[in-house]
Amino acid sequence: MLQLDRMHKKLRPEQFRSHRWFGPADMQGFGCRSRMKQIGYRLEDFAGKPVIAIVNTWSEINPCHYHLRERAEAVKRGVWQAGGFPIEIPAFSITETYMKPSPMLYRNLLAMDTEEALRSLPVDGAVLMGGCDKTTPGLLMGAISMNLPAIYLPAGPMLRGNWNGKPVGSGTDVRKFWAERCAGTITEEDWQSLEDGIARSPGFCMTMGTASTMTAMAEALGLTLPGASSIPAADANHPRLALSSGKRIVEMVWEDLKPSEILNAHAFENAITTDMALAGSTNAIIHLVALARRCGLQLELPLFEKISERVPVLANIRPSGAYLMEDFYYAGGLRALMAQIRDLLHLECLTVNGRALGQNLEGARAVNTDVIRARDQPLASTGGTAILYGNLAPDGAVIKTSAASPHLLQHTGPAVVFRNYQDLAARNDREDLDVTEDSVLVLQNAGPLGGPGMPEWGMLPIPKKLLQKGVRDMVRISDARMSGTAYGTCVLHVSPESHAGGPLAFVRDRDPISLDLARHRLDLLVPEDELAKRREQWVKPSPKYERGYGALYLERVMQAHQGCDFDFLSRCAETAEPEIH
Ligand code: FES
Repeated sequence: MLQLDRMHKKLRPEQFRSHRWFGPADMQGFGCRSRMKQIGYRLEDFAGKPVIAIVNTWSEINPCHYHLRERAEAVKRGVWQAGGFPIEIPAFSITETYMKPSPMLYRNLLAMDTEEALRSLPVDGAVLMGGCDKTTPGLLMGAISMNLPAIYLPAGPMLRGNWNGKPVGSGTDVRKFWAERCAGTITEEDWQSLEDGIARSPGFCMTMGTASTMTAMAEALGLTLPGASSIPAADANHPRLALSSGKRIVEMVWEDLKPSEILNAHAFENAITTDMALAGSTNAIIHLVALARRCGLQLELPLFEKISERVPVLANIRPSGAYLMEDFYYAGGLRALMAQIRDLLHLECLTVNGRALGQNLEGARAVNTDVIRARDQPLASTGGTAILYGNLAPDGAVIKTSAASPHLLQHTGPAVVFRNYQDLAARNDREDLDVTEDSVLVLQNAGPLGGPGMPEWGMLPIPKKLLQKGVRDMVRISDARMSGTAYGTCVLHVSPESHAGGPLAFVRDRDPISLDLARHRLDLLVPEDELAKRREQWVKPSPKYERGYGALYLERVMQAHQGCDFDFLSRCAETAEPEIH
């Protein structure tokens, strides 16, 4: 049992980290103090107070975070009110929409940016502000490794989209209507008006995509204030949450409450359990594995499957369900959902407010049981994610069963192989493509090394000639990821990836492939001697970067089942505090 009655003010001011910069009566201390005065602060504004870094991923090119500049002011008010000293620090703003070739390429860079900023500066605690997909794991990975008191402030989902008076959701509905446009069932005018109504407030994607999943994971891990992840960005409760987060982090510094006291194996099991009840994004698997490794914990893929089998899907949110995050908030939000699965959670886990998870869930209830289902009326009786193994994925692959077509989960069909994304783009819509609705579409060279950065290409588009015949889903296999807002019978994260010589590299057109969800198998039905021959003939592709961050990434990134962290970042060695001279 973790201690819940923490001693308030465990530290004395001279034990603050920042005191090493501001306290000494030497020339170095003189320099640090005089430069604060240069900014306009008096000695009494910062001396002896918890110095709080507000790590802000605001950027003018990040639409999901464009309100975070303003929210940082609310955090500062909270920090001042609690007797702390706030410093806003910009962090690398990973924007899912614009950052190419893949924002995932840069998650580890944000993690490094966060960790090193916190390490090198005179700060005692941090409020981490993010939400757009990779920013949540990036900020948390860095903060975990630095292990200062830290609280996560999710940017919040945007309001529902609106199109022709109907609610529409990021990603999910865009893909759905794009397929209809390609099939010729909606007009160009319809398509244009969708563009005007799909994103109409600040905040991140309001489907159960990676952003909503990962902010929920932050809350389930105990790293946000209770209920924080469900509040829409445009709701007045959001600036109040920002203020409360600012107040609380000051107390956390006095209490010396660090991520290492909050994050343990039970906290990660709570996150996985919650993920399954949400039918969260498959990307959560990669990020949770990476976060756990930063804590010295190994999350093996079978654990996701084991938990998935005992957790019903209760969140009726697109792409697996019908509603959007705004509806989820009004229905009671994440606290209400977690209260429905209390018996499956480790309620003793400590959270950033100093209370146990179980205490934070007291009084929470769903007020709309169509959005947050009761246990006896789940959307699906088991979690939305399954892990597959087989000769095509020796280290595992992932499928979001809740967003797949049930009739395809037991399927054998001939492969149609695309060597890379360019090949897919060039041939997928050709009339002479040798494909039927029983074919299995295979995309190679889209993994961590091959993409590079494991882009979200895993929802391979249905070939145009099949779309026009009314086909809307097929079995698709790749070493890529898939947007959490995407859907379809897509086998993802095949590991090891084809670019690294994994068996996916040896698939050829018309090879039979078997997907057998009941047995959790993914197999290439080709004799072993033929596969051995292909393996011998395989030529390793040349790396996509020869210099710069890209080269570092290609040299050090690990495979999908290991969380795609850099090998040197996931080590659990102590990094020394900086010397100050
Ligand atoms: Fe930022 Fe979807 S684009 S969360």
